[in-house]
Amino acid sequence: TDLTVDLGNALAAEARPGVSEGALDRLDDRVARAHETITAGMAADGFGYASLGLPERTDPGAIEAAVADLDADHVLTVGIGGSALGAATVSAALGLADRHHTLDNVDPVETRRLLDALPLDRTTVNVVSRSGTTAETLANFLVVREAMDEAGVDWTERTVVTTGAEGPLRTAATEQGLPALSVPEGVPGRFSALSAVGLVPAAVLGGDIEGVVRGGAAGREALLAGGSLFDYPGYAYGAVAYALEQRGATVTAMLPYAESLEPFAEWFAQLWAESLGKDGLGQTPARALGATDQHSQLQLYRGGRHDKLVTLVRPRERADMAVPATDVEGMSYLGDATLGELLDAEFEATEASLAAADQPNIRVELPRVDGPGIGRLLYEMEAACVLAGELLGVETFAQPAVEWGKRAARGLLGGGEFPEAEAVAEKTTRV
Ligand code: PA5
Repeated sequence: TDLTVDLGNALAAEARPGVSEGALDRLDDRVARAHETITAGMAADGFGYASLGLPERTDPGAIEAAVADLDADHVLTVGIGGSALGAATVSAALGLADRHHTLDNVDPVETRRLLDALPLDRTTVNVVSRSGTTAETLANFLVVREAMDEAGVDWTERTVVTTGAEGPLRTAATEQGLPALSVPEGVPGRFSALSAVGLVPAAVLGGDIEGVVRGGAAGREALLAGGSLFDYPGYAYGAVAYALEQRGATVTAMLPYAESLEPFAEWFAQLWAESLGKDGLGQTPARALGATDQHSQLQLYRGGRHDKLVTLVRPRERADMAVPATDVEGMSYLGDATLGELLDAEFEATEASLAAADQPNIRVELPRVDGPGIGRLLYEMEAACVLAGELLGVETFAQPAVEWGKRAARGLLGGGEFPEAEAVAEKTTRV
């Protein structure tokens, strides 16, 4: 699980803007102080900081045992935000994307399409909500239950729930005798990928969840042994992202070069936005995919405003495929290559092209996209985010704007008395 973060193209060089080495040295004193806060929070299982202790607390064997009776070809996760994106990321990295589906929206057209497409008698329904009160999740759960009833499938035999200690979802699980796992205490949704929240679908489908937790554990060990941005990759990334934000890089583009990491970019976008977007601070995340988005977004990243950090992520090893030989002029050079070599060439060309245009970028490499690889990558980005939050001085583990919207939506639907709903009504104006 040897993950590396290469900061070379984010540092200032002659006539190139960026973070100077002197500034990094000075920042490292603040990183050392933040490290004390972070490790003390981890030791005390403090709210949010407990997330970085998850690899020690998560027992893959217990998760596998809890779902052992759920024999299924497909998993349908019903959850949203932190209760969906981590699981989608882990499943995709383990090669299970075709069998793990997510209902994280209440678009009736998509819900209908998915329910019609899935063999419901071979599908496990994985309902996830930390609070147990999120309207989108509860509504989709009720819709899926009814669809199973109508298809003559006993949903109580095919459903697993992951939720907090209390709430309507816990009550429903208890009343129906459903297998129920717990969202660990002190862990906000977007930091919960390395718990049952992120691992149940892969466990049902036979994925290597032990490897995912092992990758996270390697990250935790490296964090505890570190304390400096110069010797721990998560802190290197978090500190430089922070320093660039302070110097005007208010956009952060995540650009993995592996289809199986596409959901990772989405997961990262939530982590960064919901944790750091506070008090008028934070970077706006952009989701991209290499090499596809070289043919769309790259123009902006290279030639647009100098307000961005671009992170390129790739595995050092992947399964490869040769390009067949041809004599056709203008195509024959490709016959000596593999698709993997072409993807690597695109990666390196993009990196160099951004650097030549003075656009700061960071290279993150993992050994492979597999269980340990994704576990380590998720852990390092969580640690980076927690550090960046300390340096920015924001409440990393709160999400008041998200909660505001949830209360407003519930109020509008008659789910309780919420002043936020009145604000929605007052502000609605048609022109
Ligand atoms: O990270 C977060 O806290 C949020 O994105 C939540 O995960 C999301 O709002 C879903 O909440 P819940 O798990 O309570 O249904």
